[in-house]
Amino acid sequence: MIYDRLKMRGQENFKKIYKEFQDIPFTHERIGGSLNKLTAYNMIVADGRFNEYIIPYRPLDNLDALLKFLELYGKVIVKLVSGSYGQSIILVEQYNDYYKLSEGQKSVLANKHDFLAFINKLVKNGQFVVQQYIKSRTLANAPFDIRVRLVKNREGKWTIVKIYPRVGDINAIATNIASGAAMKEWDIFFKNNFPHEDFEKTNQRLQKFSIEFSRCFQEMIKDNLDDIGLDIAIDSNMKFWLIEVNVNRVATSFIEFEVAEHAIPYAVSLVRKRYK
Ligand SMILES: Nc1ncnc2c1ncn2[C@@H]1O[C@H](COP(=O)(O)OP(=O)(O)OP(=O)(O)O)[C@@H](O)[C@H]1O
Ligand SMILES: [Mg+2]
Repeated sequence: MIYDRLKMRGQENFKKIYKEFQDIPFTHERIGGSLNKLTAYNMIVADGRFNEYIIPYRPLDNLDALLKFLELYGKVIVKLVSGSYGQSIILVEQYNDYYKLSEGQKSVLANKHDFLAFINKLVKNGQFVVQQYIKSRTLANAPFDIRVRLVKNREGKWTIVKIYPRVGDINAIATNIASGAAMKEWDIFFKNNFPHEDFEKTNQRLQKFSIEFSRCFQEMIKDNLDDIGLDIAIDSNMKFWLIEVNVNRVATSFIEFEVAEHAIPYAVSLVRKRYK
C-alpha cells in the first residue's frame, strides 16, 4: 500500500512513477491538484445539505455581477478559482464613487473607471469567483479562520486530527500560513477572543459539522479522499462559514505524528480489506 502524500497523479513528469507502481494499491486515486473552488461550492449547493455554511458567491464572469454583489454586501472577496496559499485574494470595498482594493497587506483607492479596468484585466487572465466578505476577526481586529484537519482512521471514518485557528497580520486579508499567518491553540484563542461564549458548545458544534460535512463531501466528490482541511470563518454572531475545502496535499506541518497515527492504520486497513 502506498500512502501518496504528494498527490501528483496525472502530472506529466510523474506519469512514469505512477505507471511503475500501478500494481501496488494507493490510499487514494484522485488526480492531483487543488479543487476548483467554484466547482466545489457548486457541488455543495447542488447537494443541498450544507447550504447554510456556503458564503454567497458567483463566478466573476461579468462586471455587473460584481457591482451587484458590492451593492448587496458592501465588501466582497475576489479570488482565483484555483488559487493557493492565499495568493490572489482581493478585498473590494465600495465608498460612494471610490473603490478600495486590498491584496496582501497593500491597499489602493480607485475611481470607477480604473476599478473596472483592473477587474476587466483580471477576468481576462484567469477564472475568478466573487464572494461576500465574511468578517472573521479577532478582538484586536486581525483576520482569522479555523483550520479543521481531518484524515480517515482505521475504520475508514473521518476523524479530526487538529483544530487550529490561523491568525493573519492586522493589515492582511488572507490567513494562510504561507502568507505569514500564525497557528494558535484553539481553546486559548477562543477564550481570549470570545470571552462571553461557551467553548465546549462551539467546539462540539464545529466538530460535528466537520465530521458530517467530510462524510457527505466524500459522497459528493466520489473520488476516494484520505485528507481534508476545512477553512472555516466565524462571524460576530458565532456563525460558521465554509471558506474552502482542501483535499490536495493538505498541510501536516507540526502535526505529522497525529496525522500518521490515523493515516497508517487506515492504509493497513485497506491492505487487510484487499487481501482478506
Ligand atoms: N469570503 C471571504 N471572506 C473573508 N475572508 C476570506 C474569504 N475568502 C477567503 N478569505 C481569506 O483568504 C484566505 C484564503 O482563501 P481560500 O482558502 O479561499 O484560498 P487559498 O487558501 O488561497 O487556496 P488554497 O487553500 O487552495 O491554497 C482564507 O483562509 C481567508 O482568510
Ligand atoms: Mg485556503
